[in-house]
Amino acid sequence: MLINGAAGAIGTFAVQMAKRMGAHVTGVCSTGNVERVRALGADAVVDYTKTDFTRAGETYDVIFDAVGKSSYRQAKKALTPTGKYLTTVLGNNILGNMLWTKIAGGKRAIFDATGLKQTRDKLETLANWVAEGELKSVVDRTYTLDQMQEAHAYVDTGHKRGNIVISMTIATQA
Ligand SMILES: NC(=O)c1ccc[n+]([C@@H]2O[C@H](COP(=O)([O-])OP(=O)(O)OC[C@H]3O[C@@H](n4cnc5c(N)ncnc54)[C@H](OP(=O)(O)O)[C@@H]3O)[C@@H](O)[C@H]2O)c1
Repeated sequence: MLINGAAGAIGTFAVQMAKRMGAHVTGVCSTGNVERVRALGADAVVDYTKTDFTRAGETYDVIFDAVGKSSYRQAKKALTPTGKYLTTVLGNNILGNMLWTKIAGGKRAIFDATGLKQTRDKLETLANWVAEGELKSVVDRTYTLDQMQEAHAYVDTGHKRGNIVISMTIATQA
């Protein structure tokens, strides 16, 4: 499995979850995040500033683009004959490719969104992995509620590592 955007919020969880489920994982990120992605458990890391994974000659059963920076058209070259391209972002003609590849068979393009297929069982599995320390949140920076604008500006750079936290003090009545 290849995970594009392996250093981001979704990507850092995806790497850990895929490893926990037994996949051989290749993460894709920029140079400064290569060691971080490896530390999350990735078996191999592609530095996208040096190598385009869609042209590197490797093929994958699953390509998960956690940040929507690739397209099915580019990525299908790197899929095995029945491989699946998954993306979190509605763009790059994904809906058209989803429909077409469902009809045609073989390689598939799939968009999915948070909450569409969650079941209690899946959430309990994730909660157990968190409790057992097998799934960890990667926190880049912490901001206060007053710094929300700054926090958004940082997220908008498109290069946060994992997640940011907004800390809030909640007043409780005695
Ligand atoms: N479908 C859904 O239900 C759903 C739910 C939540 C979010 N989303 C969408 O999913 C996307 C990802 O969200 P997120 O919060 O995980 O993103 P994020 O944490 O903001 O992503 C930042 C990461 O993207 C990486 N990145 C930037 N350009 C890249 C490139 N060209 N190739 C590979 N990696 C690159 C950066 O790594 P480097 O610094 O190493 O470049 C950085 O670590 C967003 O567009 C969001 O709207 C979808």
